Amino acid sequence: MDEADVDGDLVNILFTEQQILDRLGEMARDIEKDYEGEDLLIVGVLRGAVMVMADLARAFNRHVEMDWMAVSSYGSGTKSSGVVRILKDLDTDISGRHVLIVDEIIDTGLTLMWLTSNLNSRHPASVEICTLLRKPDAQKMNVDPKYVGWDIPNEFVVGYGLDYNEKYRNLRSVGTLAPHVYS
Ligand code: PRP
Repeated sequence: MDEADVDGDLVNILFTEQQILDRLGEMARDIEKDYEGEDLLIVGVLRGAVMVMADLARAFNRHVEMDWMAVSSYGSGTKSSGVVRILKDLDTDISGRHVLIVDEIIDTGLTLMWLTSNLNSRHPASVEICTLLRKPDAQKMNVDPKYVGWDIPNEFVVGYGLDYNEKYRNLRSVGTLAPHVYS
């Protein structure tokens, strides 16, 4: 769906579908260069990363293997606990493989901090992170993604995989949610 389909719910559009596709194309070129001659497994973090995975994978001019993980915070349901559990693990044995985790946003950094350390314990050749968006002002953990689409302000953003109460994931663009929607 488009901006017009969620009329009044957004205060602005941060990135249009075309801007996102262009940026993912640039990131794909960088990734291709860095992994030239190497086999590459990209791992999407369900559910938000579905759109980024689909468009990034298709932007490559090379073969790339795809796998998925789903994780969730324990207990309170807030991410602040920093404890994560695996809801769906990889189907792939990553030992000796080059792994690139793909996500749509780094917020506090807790999810990707935990995931990187978990995957690193499986003896891969390498583990790096690619994220479309990063909120530097929200980050609590020292996560260092190799590929970042854009740094954004610490605002409530939705669209292109990002949800509010499971809505807006299928919005083509990324926009800032109007406070009246969630307050
Ligand atoms: C989002 C996003 C990241 C994570 C980032 O997933 O996809 O994985 O939050 O937040 P953090 O940096 O504070 O850990 P979410 O847990 O909302 O699940 P979803 O992908 O199913 O929307």
